[in-house]
Amino acid sequence: MAQRVQGTEDLFGGYMRAWQHMQDTAREVFGAYGFDLIETPAIEQVATFVHGIGESTDVVRKEMFRVYSGALVDQLLQKGSEEGLKAKQRLALRPEGTAGVVRAAVQNNFVPQGGAPVKLWYAGPMFRGERPQKGRLRQFHQVGVEWLGAPDPASDAECIIMLMRYFERLGFAPESLKLAINSMGDASCRPAYRRKVREFILEHAEEMCDDCLERAEINPLRAFDCKNAHCREVMAGAPLAPNNLCDECAEHYAQVKRYLDEAGVSYVEDPTLVRGLDYYTRTVFEVEVEGAGVGAIGGGGRYDGLMELEGGKPTPGLGFAVGFERIALALQAQGVNLAGDEPECVYVACTPDVRPAVFGVTLALREAGIRTEADYQGRSLKSQFKQANKLGAHVCVVLGPDEVAAGVATLRNMSTHEQEQVPLDELVARLS
Ligand code: HAM
Repeated sequence: MAQRVQGTEDLFGGYMRAWQHMQDTAREVFGAYGFDLIETPAIEQVATFVHGIGESTDVVRKEMFRVYSGALVDQLLQKGSEEGLKAKQRLALRPEGTAGVVRAAVQNNFVPQGGAPVKLWYAGPMFRGERPQKGRLRQFHQVGVEWLGAPDPASDAECIIMLMRYFERLGFAPESLKLAINSMGDASCRPAYRRKVREFILEHAEEMCDDCLERAEINPLRAFDCKNAHCREVMAGAPLAPNNLCDECAEHYAQVKRYLDEAGVSYVEDPTLVRGLDYYTRTVFEVEVEGAGVGAIGGGGRYDGLMELEGGKPTPGLGFAVGFERIALALQAQGVNLAGDEPECVYVACTPDVRPAVFGVTLALREAGIRTEADYQGRSLKSQFKQANKLGAHVCVVLGPDEVAAGVATLRNMSTHEQEQVPLDELVARLS
C-alpha cells in the first residue's frame, strides 16, 4: 500500500472543516482590520529565503526542502555540486510565508515610496524538514498576516491585539493563552548587542555545548533557545536585549506596551525571546497555550529591514503566523470542537421502481443550494433510511409509485418519524 510521507497529514472530514473554519474566521477577524487575501507560490527561489530568513538559521541551513527538476538532478549527480546553477534553478518549498509575500510586494511594487501601507493575509501549507513529533510536521499549515509600510508602534500593538482576538474567536479560553513579547533592537543597536552575547558565550565556552559555540560565531542570539538545559541556565546570565536597545528602539517598545496596556491585553515580557528567523527587528512575540504541550501556536514580529533584503526600497513591515495543527491539538485539549457540526443534508429516498423520478428532485434541490443525497447503489428503502441517518439527514424526501402518480413527495422527519405530503412543485420552497 502506498504510504504518506512521514510528518505529513491528510486533511479530510472534520479535520478539513476545522482548517476551513480557521480560514473563514481569519477572513472575518482580519478583514475588519483591513487585510486582504494573497496567495503566493509554494515554491520560490532559494535566494528569497536565504536573503530573508537568514543563511545561518536552522530553517535555511537544515530544514529547507530543496527542489530540482528531474533533468537537473541528473546534472547535479554527475557534477556532485550545485555550482554553476542559476538562481532560477535553485528552488525550495517555502518553510514560511513572510519571505514570499515580501518578495511579491517588491516584485509588484505593492508599497510605492510614500504610498499607503498594504495589509495582506494568507493561508496555506509550509514545509520544514524537522524531526516529526506531536505538533511538529514536515508539511503543516499556517494562517499569517503581513502589514507592509507601517512604522508606527500602534501597528505592532494592533497586530498583537488582532492575533489574540483571533485566538479567542477560535475558542481558546483567554486565560489559557500566554503572550510573550520582547524587543530585539534594530540595525543601529543589534550588532553591538550580538557582539556582547558572542563574547559572553565565549567567556563561558567550557560550560556550553558545541552547537552553542558554533552559534557564537554565526548567530549568537540563537543560544537563548538551545535545547540543552545547562546552556539555557548559563544564558540566563547573558546580556539581555531590552537592556541594550538604542533610545529609538526603547521608545518604540515602551509605546507598544502602552498600547497593549490600554487595550487590556495581558502579556509577559520575555527578554530571552529571540525567534528562529533572522529578519526580525524591534518587536517580537509568541503565543503558547498553558498545558497544551505543543509549543508556540503562533508568533511574529517587526521586520523593518526585510524589504531591502529582498531587493526593495526601505519599507517597514510586521506580521505573524499561526499553526493550524498545533491550534487544533490545543483546542481539542480544551474540549473545543474546531470542526463544528457536519453540514445538514436532505436525503431523497425512493422505491427502486421510481428511481428515475429522484433525478429531477435532487437536481432541483441542489440548484436551490440545499445539500442533497440519494442512493446510487440500488439499495432497499429501509437501507436508504439507514444511510440517511448515517449522513445526518434531518429530513427524507420519500418517493414511491403513489407519490409519483399524484405529483407529491412524502417528507419524513428523521427524528420524530412524522410524515406529511407536499406537492412536488412546492418542495424546494418548503425545504429552503
Ligand atoms: P514561526 O514561528 O516559524 O514564524 O511559525 C509560526 C507558527 O507556525 C508557529 O508558532 C507554529 O504554530 C507553526 N509551526 C512552525 N513550524 C511548524 C512545524 N514544523 N509543524 C507544525 N507547526 C509549525 C513564521 O513562520 C513567521 N513567518 C511568522 C511571521 C509572519 N513573522 C512575521 N510575519
